[in-house]
Amino acid sequence: MTRSPKPIRKAVLPVAGLGTRFLPATKAVPKEMLTVVDRPVLQHVVDEARAAGIEHFVFVTGRNKGVIEDHFDNQFELEATLSSRGKKKELEALERDLPGAGQTSFTRQQAPLGLGHAVWCAREIIGNEPFALLLPDMIHHGTEPCLAEMIAAYNETGGNLVAVAPVPEDQTHQYGIVGVQDAAAKVSQITSMVEKPKQGTAPSNLHITGRYILQPEIFGLLENQTHGAGGEIQLTDSMLRLMADASQPFHAVRFDGTIYDCGSKLGFLTANVALALEREDLGADFRREITQLLAKK
Ligand code: G1P
Repeated sequence: MTRSPKPIRKAVLPVAGLGTRFLPATKAVPKEMLTVVDRPVLQHVVDEARAAGIEHFVFVTGRNKGVIEDHFDNQFELEATLSSRGKKKELEALERDLPGAGQTSFTRQQAPLGLGHAVWCAREIIGNEPFALLLPDMIHHGTEPCLAEMIAAYNETGGNLVAVAPVPEDQTHQYGIVGVQDAAAKVSQITSMVEKPKQGTAPSNLHITGRYILQPEIFGLLENQTHGAGGEIQLTDSMLRLMADASQPFHAVRFDGTIYDCGSKLGFLTANVALALEREDLGADFRREITQLLAKK
């Protein structure tokens, strides 16, 4: 009988980015707190992680990110007011969204040195166990939560996994790209990895979508990782070393749902429209408004 791999209990969420693409909205508000319909982008991603059974959330923050900590805490005045006004449904919804006491940790990335460095900043809190990593810009929207699919695959494969999805060939230079043994399979062994390959050199059109399951040995490699694409400490470079030099298995899990890149204006606006149209309380009215708006053109 094969032993099942160590469970994935903790997730890292790097939220230190400046959000310059959304200025002036992000001057005082972290980009992760911008809302898709009525939930912050970051809440959508925490929802996905909780649906996959994650118990502890490690936020790697930076300057001016204090409201993220407040968001994942009780708000006594608000709750007391809702309670005195008999707003039971709203109160219950707030409670549902909140990770439990002691289930969040916050640490700071003190300098913007890249994603690899941000992940390394979580090493003390993660300790010696495998963990999930979710990049909060990317909302993964599908019938199954992406991370839950990955954990199911991990229970079969063990090791390290990344979620992937195809992108048009002229966009491969914007992402981490992986080569796989069987591009058509839902889960396939990774054969190569490269961060932001030059046009025409990508091993495939499968990009890393921002969901990872990683073994703790990644931290030792991140510690002495040299600067890579864009002059940053790149996570993909350390993952490649973990795979090629340390011979750890890496699998790609194809995500078949829709991914909204909320780090770009277009992706963020599209996410708002798409998720609003799906809402039971809002969808029909919103569709009517949008249809009228489009008919004016
Ligand atoms: C990061 C990763 C990249 C991945 C991308 C997904 O890049 O380094 O491998 O494909 O996220 O959004 P960034 O968007 O930070 O440049």
